[in-house]
Amino acid sequence: MKATSLILISLAVIATVNACTDTNATAGAGGTCFCNAGYYGTSTDVTASGACQKCPTGTNSVAATASGTLVTSCTCNDTNAGLKADNSGCQCKANFYGTPNAVAGGATGCTACPTGTASPAGTAAVTSCACNDTNASLKGDNSGCQCKANFYGTPNAVAGGATGCTACPTGSAAAAGSTAVTSCACNDTNSALKADNSACICKANFYGTPNAVAGGATGCTACPTGSAAAAGSTAVTSCACNDTNSALKADNSACICKANFYGTPNAVAGGATGCTACPTGTTSTAGTTVIGSCACPDTNASLNTATPPVCQCNANFYGTPTTTGASGCTACPSGQTAPAGSATNVCKAASTSSTYILPIVSLLFSLVMLI
Ligand SMILES: *[C@@H]1O[C@H](CO)[C@@H](O)[C@H](O)[C@H]1NC(C)=O
Ligand SMILES: *[C@@H]1O[C@H](CO)[C@@H](O)[C@H](O)[C@H]1NC(C)=O
Ligand SMILES: *[C@@H]1O[C@H](CO)[C@@H](O)[C@H](O)[C@H]1NC(C)=O
Ligand SMILES: *[C@@H]1O[C@H](CO)[C@@H](O)[C@H](O)[C@H]1NC(C)=O
Ligand SMILES: *[C@@H]1O[C@H](CO)[C@@H](O)[C@H](O)[C@H]1NC(C)=O
Ligand SMILES: *[C@@H]1O[C@H](CO)[C@@H](O)[C@H](O)[C@H]1NC(C)=O
Ligand SMILES: *[C@@H]1O[C@H](CO)[C@@H](O)[C@H](O)[C@H]1NC(C)=O
Repeated sequence: MKATSLILISLAVIATVNACTDTNATAGAGGTCFCNAGYYGTSTDVTASGACQKCPTGTNSVAATASGTLVTSCTCNDTNAGLKADNSGCQCKANFYGTPNAVAGGATGCTACPTGTASPAGTAAVTSCACNDTNASLKGDNSGCQCKANFYGTPNAVAGGATGCTACPTGSAAAAGSTAVTSCACNDTNSALKADNSACICKANFYGTPNAVAGGATGCTACPTGSAAAAGSTAVTSCACNDTNSALKADNSACICKANFYGTPNAVAGGATGCTACPTGTTSTAGTTVIGSCACPDTNASLNTATPPVCQCNANFYGTPTTTGASGCTACPSGQTAPAGSATNVCKAASTSSTYILPIVSLLFSLVMLI
């Protein structure tokens, strides 16, 4: 009898449990019909116009213990997902991307965004995970962030902080992912970064101001042939001739031997000079190429061909050249000549006929007389 009573009581309880009109509700405490797990709302049994509604796809709820449970009591089966704003289903949470797995207990369909990136809820593609450092962007393989093109450094993973990516110096550019300032290459190919990497300067043996814009004309001009300049030179006058006995022409177009030298400058640094000093006591203007252009201080004298050459009076002068003041070379009397280098007065009348023709005439005359 006792066992039979227990069974009857049990059946009565079950009858009570199943005594809900709303098939999606179950009688709970006090016999009230509450929505089943996976449903939300108010059962038809509690409110005639009510109904326990199925949780959105991919979500689930625990069995209700109160009437009027909200759709928000339905939680996404994928723990990395949340309800969409319109409660129509699940979407990946902020800072995740993908498509939520509707089935509970399975692998998540929502993957965390790469380190240092963030995404709004509902992001489907990894490429929508944006780097927290505004000067960074996703690497090609989406594994993390790298500094954008024309920046260098290591991106700051934390949003809102200082950027870890510094802009390349003005006039230089770098590929995305550059970590060191030395990866910033100057846009002007005849320029390079200063030692302190703060700016672009013309390379050694060039002068000017680099063109900051890539692809344009260079702002760095090569030094004239045979001259050299340190990196960072801005004026052609900074180009020093490799031959130390030479200097730039007035128009800076080339190197010429300095004043009091003659020859052709050696274009190559460190080699023998191509500019020889004028013989002692003689002078030359810059750019003199031959020894004959080395002038004697006595205006009426010039160098002879001896080794070493010395100053001698010009042709038709005689005497000893002076080094200062009045000329030591006296002009021959009018109509007389003297060879160059005459030290004494050997001036003679120019005698084109007397010297040669007259003796011949005399000889012929003598022969005629003999006959
Ligand atoms: C209970 O839920 C199912 C869907 O799971 C639905 O088809 C049915 O109409 C619901 N029952 C009532 C009484 O609302
Ligand atoms: C969500 O999980 C619940 C509990 O495991 C399950 O009943 C329901 O079918 C799941 N939803 C889907 C769409 O698989
Ligand atoms: C780089 O970062 C700085 C500092 O955060 C910011 O002012 C600048 O706008 C950023 N530049 C770009 C191109 O994002
Ligand atoms: C990136 O920024 C988001 C907020 O925008 C933050 O939730 C996330 O934690 C940040 N990532 C890191 C690695 O700090
Ligand atoms: C240098 O060149 C790059 C492209 O190579 C360009 O993005 C950058 O703006 C240039 N810098 C300047 C100052 O023009
Ligand atoms: C001049 O010397 C520099 C080094 O000082 C060298 O780079 C340059 O090539 C030289 N010029 C010539 C034309 O040899
Ligand atoms: C050199 O000779 C010329 C005449 O040919 C003369 O006029 C001049 O004064 C002379 N020079 C000097 C320095 O005496």
